[in-house]
Amino acid sequence: MISKGEGDLKTAVQQQFGRVAAKYLTSAVHAQGEDLPVMVEAANMRGDERVLDAGCGAGHAASTFAPHAASVVALDFTESMLQQVELLAEARGLGNIATRLGDVESLPFDDSTFDLVISRYSAHHWPDPAQALNEFRRVLRRGGQFILSDVIGFDDPVCDTYLNAIEILRDSSHVRDFTLKEWRNLFSTAQFSLEVVFTYRIYLEFEEWTRRMETSEVNRAAIRSLYAVAPSEVREALQIDGVGHSFLAVVLRGATINR
Ligand SMILES: C[S@@+](CC[C@H](N)C(=O)[O-])C[C@H]1O[C@@H](n2cnc3c(N)ncnc32)[C@H](O)[C@@H]1O
Repeated sequence: MISKGEGDLKTAVQQQFGRVAAKYLTSAVHAQGEDLPVMVEAANMRGDERVLDAGCGAGHAASTFAPHAASVVALDFTESMLQQVELLAEARGLGNIATRLGDVESLPFDDSTFDLVISRYSAHHWPDPAQALNEFRRVLRRGGQFILSDVIGFDDPVCDTYLNAIEILRDSSHVRDFTLKEWRNLFSTAQFSLEVVFTYRIYLEFEEWTRRMETSEVNRAAIRSLYAVAPSEVREALQIDGVGHSFLAVVLRGATINR
């Protein structure tokens, strides 16, 4: 059941990504991330896996996994993103990717449908990540795995506030970059083990980053003013320079436990 506030937020996410879907097909951050080969390696693929890419966007993770898997379902609740997935799959000659419209927090699949769930750069838009993880757990077979890649928040409250303020000014459909501590609790509650596979930085050039999301001039100015007043610990944590900033990101692997 989606509460009113949550439904409004999800509509905002769909509208936001609906407008800019095509830019995500060509975005270098999304198409070429150093996390992509790490995610595949972490999954120890045999080649017969049924994979779900949850919040697939333009399908960069789905199309990276497809050559190593039996099949990949690329799921997103923004329809125009699924069209980008189809373009990408066709361009790469990948015939084993199917697209599916759906919400990660209420998956349109039977229990135990997949061997592996992956999700990349989507979780910071989920209002109820605990519910999403319960759903991943439900649709995974016994012994299945979940691999997540996303920007993470900071335990330091000052750095964390600046990070999420900059994020929400750039994209009002942003919910939160969850901290590693929060992910540990979420994984554990959904009965996944958690292993930090990889920690990396994503450098974001301000002009490209805000242009891709069509951030308003007012909000671009507000981000610049946060850059200007940020205390030294924030400047250091976000590596703010004259051109942009970088975020800390992780690849996490979860294996189903107690089942
Ligand atoms: C930055 S894009 C994902 C990038 C992509 N995974 C990649 O590897 O390039 C974020 C995506 O998450 C999707 N999303 C956000 N919340 C969702 C939800 N509750 N259910 C399904 N998709 C969701 C958005 O529609 C958007 O396409």
